[in-house]
Amino acid sequence: MKIFSGNSNIPLAEKISKNLKLKLSPVDKFVFPDGEQRIRITDQITGHKVIVVQSANTPVDQNYMELFFLLDALKRNEAEFVTAVVPYFGYQRQDHVFRDGEAVSLEVIIRILESLKIDRLISIDMHSVKIPYLFSVPVTHLSAMPLFANKIKEIFRGSVGKSSVLVSPDMGGIARIMKLSELTKLPYAALKKNRNLSTGKVTGDQVAEGSLENKKIAFIVDDMISSGSTMALAANNLVKNGIEKIYVFATHAIFSEEAPDILENAPVEKVYVTDSVFIPKEKRFSKLEILSIAPLIAKTIKKH
Ligand code: R5P
Repeated sequence: MKIFSGNSNIPLAEKISKNLKLKLSPVDKFVFPDGEQRIRITDQITGHKVIVVQSANTPVDQNYMELFFLLDALKRNEAEFVTAVVPYFGYQRQDHVFRDGEAVSLEVIIRILESLKIDRLISIDMHSVKIPYLFSVPVTHLSAMPLFANKIKEIFRGSVGKSSVLVSPDMGGIARIMKLSELTKLPYAALKKNRNLSTGKVTGDQVAEGSLENKKIAFIVDDMISSGSTMALAANNLVKNGIEKIYVFATHAIFSEEAPDILENAPVEKVYVTDSVFIPKEKRFSKLEILSIAPLIAKTIKKH
């Protein structure tokens, strides 16, 4: 087996390779003055099983193009079975037409990957549980919820009191929070969130499902943090509802715009994310803790 990586998250790719007791294969990349990328692989891969790791976070289009060119190079050089590991799958929030006249960006990306003849995709905490079924190739959809459940249990050394609750900041995360509830045996609630589709601004201050009554500690769980406004809104609403300690969990740390500042200043104790997206030094803040998904991905690769 050979493992290659794009440039979006080399530290994660290195950790996965280490777990598999492999070395990352070299990728010869040249960027032309106009921004076009030329990708060349030099390892002999004919008849090999090949893994490609690339998260499609910012700059999303550049990272996707790099992934597409890598996959093309591998298939042209007769790799036998190609698994694309795309821990953060960009454009997945545009998974249907929200308003008349829109493109379905997710479907475009899926069609491109299929046309490049990938044999399998591995991703983690996709925006909706339905997304894997939109592919015509097998998708292994992993989840960071067991990792988060262990962390929650660790915070309270296995004895989370009756005053704790898991919270989804919107109804879209209900399946995720139910899964975590099964793992931790904690009750859950979901908040109501509205997003203005033109400005992106989020509002909402109601509990849509479950109850926060008599709860003092909350674990807010989401698939991703982009601008940070969803988490800040949820945390402030929880404080208004009498919650005293808030811990934030999100799989994908997209951290666009002012997210690190917003989170650092939100009424939360800690922010736990995974390394599905590489977080540069300047976006790290004191409340942040990064949990690695590399062992989970390596274990999944070994199984197949
Ligand atoms: C949306 O439904 C997602 O699950 C996240 O809640 C959202 O993408 C977070 O974005 P932001 O941090 O910009 O509010």
